[in-house]
Amino acid sequence: MARMIALVPAAGTGSRFGAPSPKQYLQLNGKPLMWHTLATLAAVPAIDEVAVVISPQDEWFDDFAWALPKLSVHRVGGASRADSVAAGLAALACADDDWVLVHDAARCCLSVAAAERLIATLADHPVGGLLALPVPDTVKRADGDGRVSATVPRNGLWLAQTPQMFRAGTLVRALDGGGADITDEASAIERLGLKPQLVEGDAQNFKVTYPRDLALARAILAARDAQ
Ligand code: CTP
Ligand code: MG
Repeated sequence: MARMIALVPAAGTGSRFGAPSPKQYLQLNGKPLMWHTLATLAAVPAIDEVAVVISPQDEWFDDFAWALPKLSVHRVGGASRADSVAAGLAALACADDDWVLVHDAARCCLSVAAAERLIATLADHPVGGLLALPVPDTVKRADGDGRVSATVPRNGLWLAQTPQMFRAGTLVRALDGGGADITDEASAIERLGLKPQLVEGDAQNFKVTYPRDLALARAILAARDAQ
């Protein structure tokens, strides 16, 4: 039977966040930020393994007792997110029909329910797909001076999130050859001429990018703990 593997790229430096350590290791409600990400994925019964990809130069991972079931660590991260994912896939040696859920380490407020919705929706899907959010606001296109040059109809526009769930064999093929323009797995899959399915996520599953994002992540996780 096909396995289901969560692959978490965590080899970034967090340059936009600008902290002394990468953002995935910042303390958040008493644990490293990425602990919350990994714990949620490990809590999804359908997921067999949670594979985290860190940089070969990582100085932080071993400082914490992660104590999570299903966890495996791969010190093979690369120069770009796509490189880290491709190296992780190579290290895992998956079967072609295994499902891989690629999820950003920095999306620490993913809920078990959203991950399960993605898995249930795509169980029999020929391509796979991703969590995403319909754009809620009116969208403007700017000119070079920061003035509005057009209002873009938001109908049909979605914001891509993670996890992004595809068969391992297809994903390896899609990422082969890399490409600096590949910022998520779905765009690599689209490059093959395939059409990933959009599955509605939720706004809580945002990516911690800037220091201002931490307060919201803290509040979401604390509210969940209190339930
Ligand atoms: N990532 C990775 N390998 C890289 C770059 C990014 O595994 N070479 C991971 C990050 O650790 C993160 C996810 O990809 O979990 C999403 O990337 P992003 O939010 O852009 O994180 P960083 O690249 O670390 O941040 P920045 O772009 O601000 O430097
Ligand atoms: Mg980045």
